[in-house]
Amino acid sequence: MGILLAEGDQHKQQRKTLLPAFAYRHIKDLYGLMWDISSHAVTSLAEVTATTLKAEQQPYTMDIMQWASKATLDIIFVGGMGQSVDSVRNQDSKYMTLRRIYKTVFSQSREDLILFILRIWVLPNFLLPYVPLKRNIELRRESQTLRDICRQLIRQKKRDLESELADKREKDILTVALNYGGFAEDELIEQLLTFLVAGHETTATALTWAIYILSKNAEMQAKLRDEIRTHLPSPSSPSPKNSEELATVIDNNMPYLHAICLEVLRYFAPVPITFREAAVDTSINGAPIPAGTLLTICPRATNRDVSLWGEDAQVFNPDRYLSQPKKAHIDPLEEDEQGESSNKNVGTRSNYATLTFLHGPRSCIGQSFSKAELAILLATLIGRFEFALVDESLKDETKVKLRGGATNRPADGLHVKVALVEGW
Ligand code: HEM
Repeated sequence: MGILLAEGDQHKQQRKTLLPAFAYRHIKDLYGLMWDISSHAVTSLAEVTATTLKAEQQPYTMDIMQWASKATLDIIFVGGMGQSVDSVRNQDSKYMTLRRIYKTVFSQSREDLILFILRIWVLPNFLLPYVPLKRNIELRRESQTLRDICRQLIRQKKRDLESELADKREKDILTVALNYGGFAEDELIEQLLTFLVAGHETTATALTWAIYILSKNAEMQAKLRDEIRTHLPSPSSPSPKNSEELATVIDNNMPYLHAICLEVLRYFAPVPITFREAAVDTSINGAPIPAGTLLTICPRATNRDVSLWGEDAQVFNPDRYLSQPKKAHIDPLEEDEQGESSNKNVGTRSNYATLTFLHGPRSCIGQSFSKAELAILLATLIGRFEFALVDESLKDETKVKLRGGATNRPADGLHVKVALVEGW
């Protein structure tokens, strides 16, 4: 019962307490951490790529979706909780446990279907975990292990913060949340679990689609690489920029990177669909909506709506953002306080033409975090490597099978050829 699922006053209170930790002024301080993690991951990949080329005389191929998933897990752990799991390079025990749990929790079995049907027709939500099925026992066990890991993290962090040597200026979200106070330990555990789920596969999905689209657009890829190499140091540079400098460069001086990221988030909307239930009788555009009606919100459809985006709505075209007045970050704090007016980043077009992170008091609290993460991961990857699709037939987007679920990822991963590009 973290912020994602809480309702009413409970949600309001949780959001108020967490918002400061997600404000852009704090996220800005995480750019250095995110850069370090991306750089390490990219450097390891460069080593593997070079070794494979030497041994086999052909480009290295990999499933970039899996890599993206590990890299974002690393970032959410360090940026969210101030803990390293080094998923990309090491198979350390904490990481292995997390992977196992993640796989178990998100795999789908026949028993899930039974639970789903029971939920729709017979049982209220709160009774579902008590149905005596193997799946429930498994879920209880794994979520208990996850809670234990989170509890240890929180206790360790509290001890660190109380010690005289502690750096109270640590920037991770957990530290900021603890410094602001307001959560009991058990509540904070629920929030950490929420960040793990909400803030990991979502950005990994966006990164996967970014690599997909650039793999089939060599020109776009080369143009982006030029901009990256002009403005950013190589991931193996001995003198990387600090958070402040990185945030300034990435958010203000790299229009093409910014445009590609925004267009990926528009065009591929990693959370393709979500639902709301009308709490009271209401209306939408004059159509009566009785209380209890289930409403489907489909960011992917709205984001590609011709009546909102014009004739090229169904085309991936980052240039649409180049001529627009630019605002790098929509701060959830600002949006909560000022509503629509804070969010005019696409010129005269309605704010609500982009639903990737939704809007208003239930919008994605982690959007500044994820935008920074996406830009940094993409910059380090494209700066260093050239990507091409292993299966060229997938250049036809309709041939990419999608996996159902909370995020719209390619069902079979994304297999790409990876070639090192020298000179950076
Ligand atoms: C590209 C990446 C991301 C996308 C597309 C995305 C999208 C969304 C969407 C659509 C919602 C609303 C869901 C609903 O209420 O039905 C949401 C909520 C949320 N997201 Fe994200 N998200 C992303 C990354 C992140 C990250 C990195 C974090 C955390 C670090 C995060 C944390 C949350 C939380 C806590 C909520 C619940 C907010 C509330 O109900 O007040 N998200 N996200």
